[in-house]
Amino acid sequence: MALTFDTRYPSIDDLRNKAQKRIPKFAFEYLDGGCNEDVNLLRNTSELREVQLKPNYLKNHHGSSLKTKLFGIEYDAPVGIAPIGLQGLIWPNSPEILAKAAFNHNIPFILSTVSTSSIERIGELTEGKAWFQLYHPAEDTLRDDLIKRAAEAECPVLVILCDVPTFGFRPRDIRNGLAMPPKMSIKNVLQVLGKPSWALNTLKYGQPNFETLKPYMPKGLDLKQLGKFMDHTFSGRLNEAKIKPIRDMWKGKLVLKGVANEVDVEEAIRLGIDGVIVSNHGGRQLDAGESTIKPLERITAKYGDKIEVMIDSGLRSGPDIARAMASGAKFTFMGRSFMYGVSALGNKGGDHTISILKTQLLQVMEQLCCETVEDFPNHLIKTN
Ligand SMILES: Cc1cc2nc3c(=O)[nH]c(=O)nc-3n(C[C@H](O)[C@H](O)[C@H](O)COP(=O)(O)O)c2cc1C
Repeated sequence: MALTFDTRYPSIDDLRNKAQKRIPKFAFEYLDGGCNEDVNLLRNTSELREVQLKPNYLKNHHGSSLKTKLFGIEYDAPVGIAPIGLQGLIWPNSPEILAKAAFNHNIPFILSTVSTSSIERIGELTEGKAWFQLYHPAEDTLRDDLIKRAAEAECPVLVILCDVPTFGFRPRDIRNGLAMPPKMSIKNVLQVLGKPSWALNTLKYGQPNFETLKPYMPKGLDLKQLGKFMDHTFSGRLNEAKIKPIRDMWKGKLVLKGVANEVDVEEAIRLGIDGVIVSNHGGRQLDAGESTIKPLERITAKYGDKIEVMIDSGLRSGPDIARAMASGAKFTFMGRSFMYGVSALGNKGGDHTISILKTQLLQVMEQLCCETVEDFPNHLIKTN
């Protein structure tokens, strides 16, 4: 096994530990935390890890490939970078670092409406390969303008989000007075002073801003004003009336993210949606919800041949990707893992994180005697 990454950080846990040392506490807690008591945050990973796979050691093996076809596009691995809001607050310039790394490794990068780079900049960096995640605007004119900009940036896939009818209740962010730009209370200044590389990079790239939304918003909002702006600019709860015009307008593939049960998948199919991401926002919205591996198993069994079913939330390794694929997912996404990588290693973090995940996943495939990603389900050990 040729190791092409910095061998001091061979796991996502190593990157998380390093990230915690390098970025201010308010930024790390925003990235790392779940909602309420973190029950579903922890359950996502622990229940996924109950999935077990069987190896076939005596079968002939002709080599393994991570190549994965999704929506007619061939990607180099079945994993993509999930959309993250306020990305540049966690690590300066991180959307561009991750988008470029995704482009170089030929995997999808999804830009959030509330990330800190614009659709146009990310479209240019990825030569039109990035996906765009749309928070649903309250005004039709804003919705249409954002969709038009995503089409002009040549995004192949538009992702709409159904799991944010309200903002998650996140005690750490409430205590930290999370704001955009960060509020420089004495507590936060002390935290920043202890993290010189984050502070220097923030000076270099400037205060993070919602670049895609800049044309529509007033400057310098604190958390309270930001909440108000978001509340009146976006109407989180999706329904048929909101999805239909988007489906009519968007000529590319349309994906619904945040699906957590079969009823919503049935509705998505009826509305002409091309794919769903089974997701609970990384345990940041409903602490009393299920881990994503549970509905994934039910959804792929019932609808796997009718719609592309993808998953995120709680994946932290190559074996985790393998577990999800064996359980029927066509593709996987990760949010925090890539942000830990870029926070830990800066410009090299995206490339490093993708490299360790690819290396780990390939090792699992060789161990299982799994030659293609479509073969993963044949290695699932059914426990009930
Ligand atoms: C700090 C943070 C910000 C996020 N912001 C967004 C967002 O703006 N839009 C979105 O669709 N999902 C957002 N998510 C959810 C991720 O896209 C993804 O569903 C989640 O991170 C997956 O779980 P994981 O972090 O355990 O991999 C965010 C997640 C985190 C951790």
